[in-house]
Amino acid sequence: MKNLMNWIEYRLPVMEKMKIHMTQYPAPKNFNFWYFFGSLAIVVLVNQILTGIWLTMNYEPSAEGAFRSIEYIMRDVEYGWLLRYMHSTGASAFFVVVYLHMLRGMMYGSYQKPRELLWIFGMLIYLVLMAEAFMGYMLPWGQMSFWGAQVIISIFGVIPFIGDDLTLWIRGDYVISGATLNRFFALHVIALPLVLVILVFLHIMALHEVGSNNPDGIETKRDNDGTVPADAVSKFEFHDNFTKGGKKVIIDSIPFHPYYTVKDLVGLAGFLFLFAYVIFFMPEGGGYFLEAPNFELANPMKTPEHIAPVWYFTPFYAILRAVPNPLFGAVAMFAAILALALLPWIDRGKVRSVRYRCGLHKLNLVNFCISFVALGILGVLPATPLYTLLSQLFSFTYFGFFILLWFYSKNENTKPLPERLT
Ligand code: HEM
Repeated sequence: MKNLMNWIEYRLPVMEKMKIHMTQYPAPKNFNFWYFFGSLAIVVLVNQILTGIWLTMNYEPSAEGAFRSIEYIMRDVEYGWLLRYMHSTGASAFFVVVYLHMLRGMMYGSYQKPRELLWIFGMLIYLVLMAEAFMGYMLPWGQMSFWGAQVIISIFGVIPFIGDDLTLWIRGDYVISGATLNRFFALHVIALPLVLVILVFLHIMALHEVGSNNPDGIETKRDNDGTVPADAVSKFEFHDNFTKGGKKVIIDSIPFHPYYTVKDLVGLAGFLFLFAYVIFFMPEGGGYFLEAPNFELANPMKTPEHIAPVWYFTPFYAILRAVPNPLFGAVAMFAAILALALLPWIDRGKVRSVRYRCGLHKLNLVNFCISFVALGILGVLPATPLYTLLSQLFSFTYFGFFILLWFYSKNENTKPLPERLT
């Protein structure tokens, strides 16, 4: 057995990689609640892929058969209802987890140098995830699948000169049809999941190259020049990749495995309680995870009274609707996402964690959260004059977060950073 292991290890150093990424990966010892969401995102991704494979076995990607095949899965396929609800609830869970994961990054400045690329990979994941969810929602071929796609695809139509051709190209037809459904199916079940998995791999590689940030936002790898107090240096054996042949010492850190694998299991248990609760007791999520009109077959001749995208798109949808001109609305919507991607450069601060940043930054982060949630709520509501006005107000405060941050972060009055992790 040992010889076999050595034979494999020589050709493919699996154990070595396990050491780098698990048993000798130095993780700061003060990870808190907010650090659950990265591993949970992986769990949800695996759940989506597995339940997706089994759904595909009985799903029919055609305008004639799609809606019926979903009913068949729900009623006749053994445990089909469970597979479908795990997948549809999983989509919403994915966004809950990813939004909290992103918020953690914003709170602790995890996007700042040297983790910019990690953040960019994260934002690419987020974009692909949105495309993946949008295309998946079209597959049941219900009223919202059809009309939601109609609204979203028509956004591309506002682009000058190429808009009409572009929407035609996306739809593969003059109207949304079986041809559109078919290509969305191909992208949803293979192309985008593949891209997602590759991006997640790169995301984690980029993280492990520079190491994890932590709630204090201070460096845990220090130069081994004798200035670091002996009691601060972690006693565990960490991989040479991190200690650089003794040139670096690692403070206040513990090996990822077993310490954080065990901790993440606690987070997983908590998550599964909530996830199972939704699946078994409120699978439609009160009409937010699966909207009522989607239980009706798509009908191109009948527009639903009120078209709203699924909740995770609504903050951006509210920004789109807040601007009276459709072209500028689309520009504002994309700018809202781009601003997030540019955070590492918009934030010019030297201190990462919100714990040690100025009062204005704390308030500004609260402003961001309130604006994002308020826009999310407004995006589900009909566009009455009052709600439109409120959407404009919160779009203003949303972008205000980034503009303010750029100004005050340059010469910010920060608190002194601790020497050690707290
Ligand atoms: C499928 C989606 C994603 C998966 C599976 C994923 C996975 C992970 C994992 C396993 C970690 C390390 C554990 C942790 O720090 O929680 C991590 C860290 C991180 N992720 Fe993600 N992630 C995803 C999406 C995103 C997105 C959308 C962003 C932001 C745009 C992002 C930004 C970050 C950052 C900044 C860190 C480092 C945090 C720190 O060290 O403080 N991730 N991610």
